[in-house]
Amino acid sequence: MVPTSSDYRDLYERLAQERGDMAQHYLHYAPARRLQVTLDLIRTIPWASALDAGCGDGVLLAQMRSMASQRGGRPLLCGIDLSELRLRRARERADVGLSLSDVSALPFRDGSFDLVVCTEVVEHVPDFRGAIRELARVTAASGHVIVSIPVAGWDRSLRSLRGRPVVYLDTVEHLREWAMISIPGFERLRDFFAQLRQEGLSVTAARGAYIFGGRLECHLDRVACMPKSKRRRLADAIDEFAGWAPLRRSCERYLVRLVRTSAHEGGG
Ligand SMILES: C[S@@+](CC[C@H](N)C(=O)[O-])C[C@H]1O[C@@H](n2cnc3c(N)ncnc32)[C@H](O)[C@@H]1O
Repeated sequence: MVPTSSDYRDLYERLAQERGDMAQHYLHYAPARRLQVTLDLIRTIPWASALDAGCGDGVLLAQMRSMASQRGGRPLLCGIDLSELRLRRARERADVGLSLSDVSALPFRDGSFDLVVCTEVVEHVPDFRGAIRELARVTAASGHVIVSIPVAGWDRSLRSLRGRPVVYLDTVEHLREWAMISIPGFERLRDFFAQLRQEGLSVTAARGAYIFGGRLECHLDRVACMPKSKRRRLADAIDEFAGWAPLRRSCERYLVRLVRTSAHEGGG
């Protein structure tokens, strides 16, 4: 039977309870690294209004709020998510506008935000094309979108080239993942870029978030327990050491910064 939208709401409510607050998740090496890269990309963009679509427990929104107040501004900051519990936690964490909504049907007017961030969400959404269209629609002309998606990195790609089966990072929640090369069950990254272009979004930066997958990541989690300044220095050194371009392009998590250059082809 095809799951309905209320099945998805129930699933994400249950996962919000079972998996707890995402702040714990961000203590680990890989998510911490992704958050860092997201914030680095956000710093390159001038923005006075921003939406975090699929904001989870509001960890990024809280960081964006403090980034803005360090700059002496108080921009409009909004978040949406499918889980009420996550939104409750986000409300405690950050003083922002929050709404229980689906990223495929955003409750905002066209061109409402000059920055829209959507990290690790579109792979969960049945109407993936509709979600991308909505992100583009609520972005102002010349405004920016930052999207991150799970991409099979070099280790999963090598595994597939050796004829071994390759699985998704999360087999419960992910409806799709992407790959640079052809891997059974994965979508091609180049098709993702083509879909973004069709919605009037041009890629201005593409960054891998971290280069290690699988077991190495567990070892690196020990690094994540170090004090923050040491952790950052060590993670930077590891990433620099492994900064060989082809490796850097084949990371497990991929972020793209896009600019909205035109109205999407679907109209609106
Ligand atoms: C992996 S978490 C990512 C959260 C956060 N963006 C981050 O980067 O940590 C996925 C989030 O998307 C939410 N979500 C899943 N499907 C959604 C949908 N159709 N619309 C809005 N949010 C959704 C989930 O409740 C969850 O908070």
